[in-house]
Amino acid sequence: MKLRSLTDLKNLAGKRILLQGDLDVPVSEGKIEEDYRLKALLPTLNFLLERKGRVLIIGKLGRPKGKKDPALSLQPVADWFSEKLGEKVEFISDLSGNPSSRIALLENLRFWEGEERNDSEFAKQLASLGEIYVNDAFANSHRNHASIAGVPRLIPAYAGLQLEKEVQELGSVLVNPARPLVFVLGGAKTETKMPLVPSFAKIADQVLLGGLLMFDRELEGTPKVTFPVDATDAYDIGPETIRLFTKLIKEAQTVVWNGPVGKWEDNRYELGTRAIAEELALLKEVKTVVGGGDTIAALSSFGLLSEMDYVSLGGGAMLQFLAGKELPGLAALKE
Ligand code: 3PG
Repeated sequence: MKLRSLTDLKNLAGKRILLQGDLDVPVSEGKIEEDYRLKALLPTLNFLLERKGRVLIIGKLGRPKGKKDPALSLQPVADWFSEKLGEKVEFISDLSGNPSSRIALLENLRFWEGEERNDSEFAKQLASLGEIYVNDAFANSHRNHASIAGVPRLIPAYAGLQLEKEVQELGSVLVNPARPLVFVLGGAKTETKMPLVPSFAKIADQVLLGGLLMFDRELEGTPKVTFPVDATDAYDIGPETIRLFTKLIKEAQTVVWNGPVGKWEDNRYELGTRAIAEELALLKEVKTVVGGGDTIAALSSFGLLSEMDYVSLGGGAMLQFLAGKELPGLAALKE
Protein backbone atom coordinates (compact mmCIF):
# COMPACT_ATOMS: atom_id res chain seq x y z
CA MET A 1 0.00 0.00 0.00
CA LYS A 2 1.48 3.32 -1.07
CA LEU A 3 0.72 6.22 1.25
CA ARG A 4 1.44 9.90 0.66
CA SER A 5 4.72 10.37 2.44
CA LEU A 6 5.85 13.20 4.64
CA THR A 7 9.22 13.05 2.93
CA ASP A 8 7.57 14.31 -0.30
CA LEU A 9 6.68 17.56 1.43
CA LYS A 10 8.67 20.59 0.35
CA ASN A 11 8.79 23.90 2.15
CA LEU A 12 7.23 23.48 5.54
CA ALA A 13 8.62 26.74 6.91
CA GLY A 14 5.96 28.60 8.90
CA LYS A 15 3.25 26.10 7.92
CA ARG A 16 0.72 25.07 10.57
CA ILE A 17 0.77 21.29 10.81
CA LEU A 18 -1.73 19.09 12.61
CA LEU A 19 0.22 16.08 13.81
CA GLN A 20 -1.87 13.12 14.94
CA GLY A 21 0.08 11.04 17.45
CA ASP A 22 -0.51 7.88 19.45
CA LEU A 23 -0.80 9.64 22.78
CA ASP A 24 -2.78 6.91 24.52
CA VAL A 25 -0.33 5.95 27.25
CA PRO A 26 -0.95 4.70 30.79
CA VAL A 27 -1.35 7.74 33.09
CA SER A 28 -1.91 7.42 36.79
CA GLU A 29 -2.54 10.47 38.98
CA GLY A 30 -1.06 12.72 36.33
CA LYS A 31 2.08 10.60 35.96
CA ILE A 32 2.99 8.87 32.70
CA GLU A 33 3.85 5.29 33.53
CA GLU A 34 5.04 4.13 30.10
CA ASP A 35 6.17 6.45 27.32
CA TYR A 36 7.04 4.17 24.40
CA ARG A 37 4.30 5.56 22.16
CA LEU A 38 5.29 9.16 22.92
CA LYS A 39 8.95 8.51 22.11
CA ALA A 40 7.87 7.00 18.81
CA LEU A 41 6.39 10.36 17.77
CA LEU A 42 9.69 12.21 18.21
CA PRO A 43 11.26 11.39 14.79
CA THR A 44 8.26 12.84 12.92
CA LEU A 45 7.92 15.77 15.30
CA ASN A 46 11.61 16.61 14.92
CA PHE A 47 11.38 16.21 11.14
CA LEU A 48 8.65 18.87 11.07
CA LEU A 49 10.39 21.18 13.52
CA GLU A 50 13.74 20.99 11.72
CA ARG A 51 11.93 22.16 8.61
CA LYS A 52 10.54 25.08 10.60
CA GLY A 53 6.95 23.87 10.73
CA ARG A 54 4.57 25.01 13.50
CA VAL A 55 3.11 21.88 15.01
CA LEU A 56 -0.17 21.28 16.81
CA ILE A 57 -0.10 17.75 18.21
CA ILE A 58 -3.51 16.04 18.45
CA GLY A 59 -4.55 12.70 19.87
CA LYS A 60 -6.67 10.88 22.38
CA LEU A 61 -6.31 9.31 25.81
CA GLY A 62 -8.61 6.55 27.04
CA ARG A 63 -12.32 6.47 26.28
CA PRO A 64 -14.00 9.58 27.77
CA LYS A 65 -17.00 9.18 25.41
CA GLY A 66 -17.45 12.82 24.41
CA LYS A 67 -17.24 14.25 27.94
CA LYS A 68 -14.52 16.11 29.80
CA ASP A 69 -12.79 13.89 32.33
CA PRO A 70 -9.87 15.50 34.20
CA ALA A 71 -8.28 12.08 34.75
CA LEU A 72 -7.99 11.73 30.96
CA SER A 73 -6.59 15.19 30.23
CA LEU A 74 -3.59 15.28 27.89
CA GLN A 75 -1.88 17.93 30.03
CA PRO A 76 0.66 15.37 31.40
CA VAL A 77 1.48 14.40 27.82
CA ALA A 78 2.09 18.07 26.92
CA ASP A 79 4.39 18.30 29.96
CA TRP A 80 6.22 15.15 28.83
CA PHE A 81 6.92 16.71 25.41
CA SER A 82 8.01 20.01 27.00
CA GLU A 83 10.52 18.15 29.12
CA LYS A 84 11.78 15.91 26.31
CA LEU A 85 12.20 18.75 23.83
CA GLY A 86 13.53 21.25 26.37
CA GLU A 87 10.99 23.73 25.03
CA LYS A 88 7.56 24.81 26.18
CA VAL A 89 4.75 22.87 24.53
CA GLU A 90 1.67 25.03 24.82
CA PHE A 91 -1.42 23.21 26.03
CA ILE A 92 -4.62 24.17 24.18
CA SER A 93 -7.82 23.18 25.91
CA ASP A 94 -10.39 24.43 23.41
CA LEU A 95 -10.73 24.72 19.65
CA SER A 96 -10.75 28.52 19.66
CA GLY A 97 -7.33 28.62 21.30
CA ASN A 98 -4.80 29.87 18.78
CA PRO A 99 -1.32 28.60 19.69
CA SER A 100 1.34 31.28 20.00
CA SER A 101 4.25 28.82 20.37
CA ARG A 102 5.76 26.74 17.58
CA ILE A 103 4.72 23.51 19.37
CA ALA A 104 1.32 23.05 20.96
CA LEU A 105 -0.80 20.11 22.03
CA LEU A 106 -4.59 20.00 21.94
CA GLU A 107 -6.67 18.53 24.76
CA ASN A 108 -7.97 14.95 24.38
CA LEU A 109 -9.94 14.79 21.11
CA ARG A 110 -12.47 12.42 22.64
CA PHE A 111 -13.64 15.14 25.04
CA TRP A 112 -15.57 16.40 21.97
CA GLU A 113 -18.41 14.13 21.04
CA GLY A 114 -17.99 14.97 17.33
CA GLU A 115 -14.71 13.04 17.26
CA GLU A 116 -16.06 9.50 17.58
CA ARG A 117 -19.14 10.30 15.48
CA ASN A 118 -16.85 11.51 12.69
CA ASP A 119 -18.97 14.63 12.65
CA SER A 120 -18.25 16.74 9.57
CA GLU A 121 -18.56 20.08 11.41
CA PHE A 122 -16.10 18.93 14.07
CA ALA A 123 -13.72 17.70 11.36
CA LYS A 124 -13.95 21.11 9.66
CA GLN A 125 -13.21 22.91 12.93
CA LEU A 126 -10.18 20.71 13.52
CA ALA A 127 -8.97 21.05 9.95
CA SER A 128 -9.14 24.86 10.26
CA LEU A 129 -6.39 24.63 12.90
CA GLY A 130 -3.83 23.46 10.32
CA GLU A 131 -2.75 23.78 6.70
CA ILE A 132 -1.29 20.27 6.53
CA TYR A 133 -2.27 17.08 8.34
CA VAL A 134 0.17 14.33 9.26
CA ASN A 135 -0.98 11.02 10.68
CA ASP A 136 1.66 9.26 12.74
CA ALA A 137 -0.89 7.45 14.92
CA PHE A 138 -1.04 3.91 13.59
CA ALA A 139 -2.68 2.65 16.81
CA ASN A 140 -5.70 4.85 16.13
CA SER A 141 -5.93 4.42 12.39
CA HIS A 142 -8.58 1.68 12.61
CA ARG A 143 -11.06 4.17 14.05
CA ASN A 144 -13.45 5.94 11.70
CA HIS A 145 -13.20 9.14 13.74
CA ALA A 146 -13.18 12.79 12.68
CA SER A 147 -9.47 13.39 13.31
CA ILE A 148 -8.44 10.12 11.64
CA ALA A 149 -10.73 9.77 8.65
CA GLY A 150 -12.41 13.19 8.30
CA VAL A 151 -9.63 15.79 8.57
CA PRO A 152 -7.30 14.13 6.01
CA ARG A 153 -10.05 14.53 3.40
CA LEU A 154 -10.19 18.28 4.04
CA ILE A 155 -6.55 19.41 3.97
CA PRO A 156 -3.41 17.92 2.33
CA ALA A 157 -2.60 14.81 4.36
CA TYR A 158 0.50 12.65 4.73
CA ALA A 159 1.74 9.58 6.60
CA GLY A 160 4.29 10.18 9.35
CA LEU A 161 7.55 8.24 9.65
CA GLN A 162 6.31 5.80 12.32
CA LEU A 163 3.13 5.09 10.39
CA GLU A 164 5.12 4.29 7.26
CA LYS A 165 7.32 1.94 9.24
CA GLU A 166 4.29 0.13 10.67
CA VAL A 167 2.80 -0.45 7.23
CA GLN A 168 6.10 -1.75 5.92
CA GLU A 169 6.92 -4.04 8.89
CA LEU A 170 3.45 -5.47 9.42
CA GLY A 171 3.01 -5.79 5.68
CA SER A 172 6.05 -8.06 5.61
CA VAL A 173 4.35 -10.50 8.06
CA LEU A 174 1.58 -10.94 5.49
CA VAL A 175 3.84 -11.54 2.53
CA ASN A 176 5.47 -14.93 2.65
CA PRO A 177 6.37 -15.16 6.39
CA ALA A 178 8.79 -17.81 7.65
CA ARG A 179 6.65 -20.72 8.96
CA PRO A 180 5.29 -21.94 11.26
CA LEU A 181 3.60 -18.59 11.86
CA VAL A 182 2.12 -18.42 15.37
CA PHE A 183 -0.23 -15.72 16.67
CA VAL A 184 -0.59 -15.18 20.42
CA LEU A 185 -3.63 -13.07 21.27
CA GLY A 186 -4.76 -11.79 24.64
CA GLY A 187 -5.83 -8.59 26.34
CA ALA A 188 -9.19 -7.21 27.27
CA LYS A 189 -10.75 -5.83 24.08
CA THR A 190 -12.57 -9.09 23.28
CA GLU A 191 -15.20 -7.38 21.12
CA THR A 192 -12.62 -6.04 18.63
CA LYS A 193 -10.25 -9.00 18.69
CA MET A 194 -12.42 -12.11 18.65
CA PRO A 195 -14.11 -11.40 15.28
CA LEU A 196 -10.65 -11.29 13.68
CA VAL A 197 -9.54 -14.72 14.92
CA PRO A 198 -10.94 -16.62 11.89
CA SER A 199 -8.87 -14.39 9.57
CA PHE A 200 -5.74 -15.17 11.59
CA ALA A 201 -6.52 -18.88 11.54
CA LYS A 202 -6.43 -18.62 7.72
CA ILE A 203 -2.96 -17.10 7.53
CA ALA A 204 -1.31 -18.54 10.65
CA ASP A 205 -0.33 -22.11 11.55
CA GLN A 206 -1.47 -21.62 15.17
CA VAL A 207 -3.55 -19.01 16.99
CA LEU A 208 -3.13 -19.16 20.77
CA LEU A 209 -5.74 -17.36 22.85
CA GLY A 210 -5.37 -15.97 26.38
CA GLY A 211 -6.46 -12.94 28.43
CA LEU A 212 -10.19 -12.26 28.36
CA LEU A 213 -10.38 -13.90 24.94
CA MET A 214 -10.09 -17.30 26.59
CA PHE A 215 -13.63 -16.96 27.96
CA ASP A 216 -15.27 -16.47 24.59
CA ARG A 217 -15.49 -20.11 23.52
CA GLU A 218 -17.58 -19.67 20.38
CA LEU A 219 -14.63 -20.61 18.19
CA GLU A 220 -13.65 -23.66 20.21
CA GLY A 221 -12.92 -26.52 17.83
CA THR A 222 -11.86 -24.21 14.96
CA PRO A 223 -8.79 -25.74 13.30
CA LYS A 224 -5.52 -24.08 14.35
CA VAL A 225 -7.20 -22.06 17.16
CA THR A 226 -5.93 -23.18 20.59
CA PHE A 227 -7.72 -22.22 23.80
CA PRO A 228 -6.14 -22.54 27.26
CA VAL A 229 -6.56 -25.91 28.97
CA ASP A 230 -6.32 -24.43 32.47
CA ALA A 231 -6.37 -21.04 34.21
CA THR A 232 -5.09 -19.45 37.41
CA ASP A 233 -8.07 -17.95 39.31
CA ALA A 234 -9.52 -16.92 35.92
CA TYR A 235 -6.92 -14.12 35.71
CA ASP A 236 -4.09 -15.91 33.94
CA ILE A 237 -3.45 -18.96 31.79
CA GLY A 238 -2.57 -21.95 33.97
CA PRO A 239 0.68 -23.99 34.15
CA GLU A 240 -0.43 -26.66 31.63
CA THR A 241 -1.35 -23.95 29.14
CA ILE A 242 1.98 -22.19 29.69
CA ARG A 243 3.73 -25.47 28.79
CA LEU A 244 1.55 -25.97 25.73
CA PHE A 245 1.88 -22.40 24.46
CA THR A 246 5.64 -22.18 24.98
CA LYS A 247 6.10 -25.51 23.17
CA LEU A 248 4.15 -24.23 20.14
CA ILE A 249 6.05 -20.93 20.24
CA LYS A 250 9.40 -22.79 20.30
CA GLU A 251 8.47 -24.52 17.04
CA ALA A 252 7.62 -21.24 15.29
CA GLN A 253 9.67 -19.25 12.78
CA THR A 254 7.51 -16.12 13.04
CA VAL A 255 5.57 -15.09 16.15
CA VAL A 256 3.05 -12.25 16.35
CA TRP A 257 1.98 -11.32 19.86
CA ASN A 258 -0.76 -8.86 20.78
CA GLY A 259 -2.29 -8.61 24.26
CA PRO A 260 -1.12 -9.98 27.62
CA VAL A 261 -2.49 -13.46 28.37
CA GLY A 262 -3.26 -12.59 32.00
CA LYS A 263 -3.67 -9.73 34.45
CA TRP A 264 0.10 -9.26 34.50
CA GLU A 265 0.02 -5.97 36.48
CA ASP A 266 -0.82 -8.09 39.53
CA ASN A 267 2.22 -10.26 40.20
CA ARG A 268 0.03 -13.19 41.22
CA TYR A 269 -1.18 -13.36 37.61
CA GLU A 270 1.90 -12.39 35.61
CA LEU A 271 3.31 -15.89 35.07
CA GLY A 272 1.70 -16.62 31.70
CA THR A 273 2.56 -13.24 30.17
CA ARG A 274 6.09 -13.39 31.57
CA ALA A 275 6.63 -16.94 30.27
CA ILE A 276 5.65 -15.87 26.73
CA ALA A 277 7.81 -12.76 26.92
CA GLU A 278 10.82 -14.78 28.11
CA GLU A 279 10.30 -17.45 25.47
CA LEU A 280 10.16 -14.82 22.70
CA ALA A 281 13.31 -13.14 24.03
CA LEU A 282 15.16 -16.47 23.74
CA LEU A 283 14.19 -16.99 20.09
CA LYS A 284 17.09 -15.39 18.27
CA GLU A 285 16.50 -16.83 14.79
CA VAL A 286 12.76 -16.27 14.89
CA LYS A 287 11.02 -13.09 13.75
CA THR A 288 9.11 -11.67 16.73
CA VAL A 289 6.51 -8.98 16.11
CA VAL A 290 4.68 -7.62 19.13
CA GLY A 291 2.17 -4.84 19.58
CA GLY A 292 -0.45 -3.07 21.63
CA GLY A 293 -0.16 -0.67 24.55
CA ASP A 294 -0.53 -3.32 27.26
CA THR A 295 1.86 -5.78 25.62
CA ILE A 296 4.44 -3.02 25.32
CA ALA A 297 3.94 -2.07 28.98
CA ALA A 298 4.32 -5.71 30.08
CA LEU A 299 7.46 -6.31 28.00
CA SER A 300 8.94 -3.06 29.16
CA SER A 301 8.28 -3.86 32.81
CA PHE A 302 9.97 -7.28 32.34
CA GLY A 303 12.94 -5.47 30.71
CA LEU A 304 12.45 -7.47 27.49
CA LEU A 305 11.04 -4.95 25.03
CA SER A 306 14.36 -4.41 23.25
CA GLU A 307 14.62 -8.17 22.62
CA MET A 308 11.73 -8.07 20.15
CA ASP A 309 12.39 -7.68 16.41
CA TYR A 310 9.54 -5.29 15.77
CA VAL A 311 7.31 -3.43 18.20
CA SER A 312 4.10 -2.10 16.68
CA LEU A 313 2.32 0.74 18.47
CA GLY A 314 -1.00 -0.66 17.34
CA GLY A 315 -3.25 -2.89 19.41
CA GLY A 316 -6.56 -3.26 17.59
CA ALA A 317 -5.11 -1.46 14.57
CA MET A 318 -2.27 -3.95 14.25
CA LEU A 319 -4.73 -6.83 14.35
CA GLN A 320 -7.09 -5.31 11.82
CA PHE A 321 -4.20 -4.62 9.49
CA LEU A 322 -2.96 -8.21 9.82
CA ALA A 323 -6.50 -9.50 9.26
CA GLY A 324 -6.45 -7.71 5.90
CA LYS A 325 -9.02 -5.06 6.80
CA GLU A 326 -8.84 -1.58 5.35
CA LEU A 327 -8.01 0.94 8.08
CA PRO A 328 -9.94 4.23 7.63
CA GLY A 329 -6.90 6.27 8.66
CA LEU A 330 -4.70 4.63 6.03
CA ALA A 331 -7.38 4.72 3.34
CA ALA A 332 -7.47 8.50 3.74
CA LEU A 333 -3.73 8.74 3.02
CA LYS A 334 -3.58 6.54 -0.05
CA GLU A 335 -1.77 7.98 -3.05
C1 3PG B 1 -5.16 1.69 21.51
O1 3PG B 1 -4.74 1.94 22.63
O2 3PG B 1 -5.16 0.57 20.99
C2 3PG B 1 -5.61 2.85 20.67
O3 3PG B 1 -5.31 4.04 21.30
C3 3PG B 1 -7.08 2.71 20.34
O4 3PG B 1 -7.89 2.89 21.45
P1 3PG B 1 -9.49 2.69 21.37
O5 3PG B 1 -9.71 1.21 21.38
O6 3PG B 1 -10.01 3.39 22.57
O7 3PG B 1 -9.94 3.31 20.08
